[in-house]
Amino acid sequence: MKIDPSQLDWKEAHELLVGAVLPRPIAFVSTIGEDGINNVAPFSFFTSISVKPAYVGFSIGRYREGRKKDTLVNIEFSKDFVINVVTEELVDAMNQASKDYPSNVDEFKEIGITPVKGDLVKSPIVAESPVNMECRLVKTLEFGEPPRINNFVIGEVLRVHVRDDILIDNIIIKADRLKAVGRLGEELYCRTTNMFEKKRPSVL
Ligand SMILES: Cc1cc2nc3c(=O)[nH]c(=O)nc-3n(C[C@H](O)[C@H](O)[C@H](O)COP(=O)(O)O)c2cc1C
Repeated sequence: MKIDPSQLDWKEAHELLVGAVLPRPIAFVSTIGEDGINNVAPFSFFTSISVKPAYVGFSIGRYREGRKKDTLVNIEFSKDFVINVVTEELVDAMNQASKDYPSNVDEFKEIGITPVKGDLVKSPIVAESPVNMECRLVKTLEFGEPPRINNFVIGEVLRVHVRDDILIDNIIIKADRLKAVGRLGEELYCRTTNMFEKKRPSVL
C-alpha cells in the first residue's frame, strides 16, 4: 500500500504519522501564564536539535477550531518553558494533563504535582520528574493552514536538573534508573526496560 498524507484528512494523517514515527519521547512542558497560573501538558512531537547551542524543539498543534493551546499562549508571553521527562511514575499525571482544561485552571493543583521555582526561567519545574530542562524560547516556526496550524517551538536549554541517583560520573543519565516512557501510535506507550547494547563500528 502506498499512502500520500496530503490526500488524507487531518485525523488520518495524524494516525499514519504517529504509527510511523516512534517510539517518541514525551516532553512534559511546564509554563506560566500572564495571569501567574501554572500549566503543564505532554507533547510527543519532540526532539533535540543541536548540541552546542543545546537546542530542543517540540510541535504544538491548534485545537480543531483553530484555538491556540495554553502552552503556546504562555510561551509567547514568558518566552520560556521547562521540559520535564515523563517516567513510569508520572504517566497518570501526564495523561490527566493532556485534558483541555480552561486556561484559568492551575494544572499542577488539578493533577496533584508540585511546582518548583526555576533558577533561570519564569516557568515552573515539575518536582516529581527526575530530569528538568529550563529553556529560553529561541523562535517558533509556523506550518499548515488555519485552523490546523502547527507551531514548532525551539528553545535553548539553559540549565538541566538531574536527580543524583540516576546519574553516574556526574554526567551520564542511566536509562534503567530514569525509567522514561515513550509514545507509540494508537493509545499505546512503551517502557525502557528491554534495552540492548550495540557498539558502533569503529571509523578508520
Ligand atoms: C502522550 C501525549 C502526547 C501528546 N503530544 C502532543 C503534541 O506533540 N502536540 C500537540 O499539540 N498535542 C499533543 N498532545 C495533546 C496535548 O497534550 C493536549 O492538547 C493538551 O491539552 C494541551 O494542553 P494546554 O492547552 O494546556 O497547552 C499529546 C497528548 C498526549 C497524551
